[in-house]
Amino acid sequence: MSDSPFIELTIVFDNQPFSPELQTKWGFSCVIKGLDRTILFDTGSQGETLLSNMAHMNIRPQEIDVVFLSHDHKDHTGGLSHLLKKHSQLEVWLPEFFHPQLKESIRSQGASVVEVENFRKICRGAFTTGVIQGWIKEQSLILDTPQGLVVITGCAHPRIVRILSTVKNLIPKDIYLALGGFHLAGFEDKEINDIIENFRNIGVKKVAPSHCSGEEARGGFSQEYKNDFIPSGLGKRIKIQ
Ligand SMILES: [Fe+2]
Ligand SMILES: [Fe+2]
Repeated sequence: MSDSPFIELTIVFDNQPFSPELQTKWGFSCVIKGLDRTILFDTGSQGETLLSNMAHMNIRPQEIDVVFLSHDHKDHTGGLSHLLKKHSQLEVWLPEFFHPQLKESIRSQGASVVEVENFRKICRGAFTTGVIQGWIKEQSLILDTPQGLVVITGCAHPRIVRILSTVKNLIPKDIYLALGGFHLAGFEDKEINDIIENFRNIGVKKVAPSHCSGEEARGGFSQEYKNDFIPSGLGKRIKIQ
């Protein structure tokens, strides 16, 4: 581990507002500090906004060691090339099926590309789930913290419950926190309640849905999880000790 006494997650790009001084736009991105390497999970839809939000929160592009791209949608990859213009000495971990042109453009900007297929360690305390199958394939990020596992999802297109079950099979430890886009906008109450029940069965302790999770689902989780529902959105910082 690094010398940091805690792991800190900071949401630097989100359409879901939290800190009013920051600029919301559709998309998602989160910085993970406190491990051996600083990870940027997804890059939002737009580079200027990403970097200006990071600057507001005192995070310099040069601090990033690894960019982790969950899936090939613009609201998660759109900020990458602007970031690489400021700082390209980093690794981009992406699902192996990404378009060769995108991989080439990353390499031509000076960064290295790590093509992910299966569950794999990124650094001490951080893992990719590997590519999870679904109507849109995606990788999620797992952090192994003293409190339990933290699972960060981009859009959760392969379905959030399937992702969390996959994580449980990969690392048989308790899931402390699920954070990110759960992709439940427009779901019926009944479906949302079933999903929340699945979260309880899997043993997910805390939840911090934002991005594409949807108001109905956020409301449902808030009601069921009470103090373990973490109001999330752009500018939210979560420290894990
Ligand atoms: Fe997506
Ligand atoms: Fe998305």
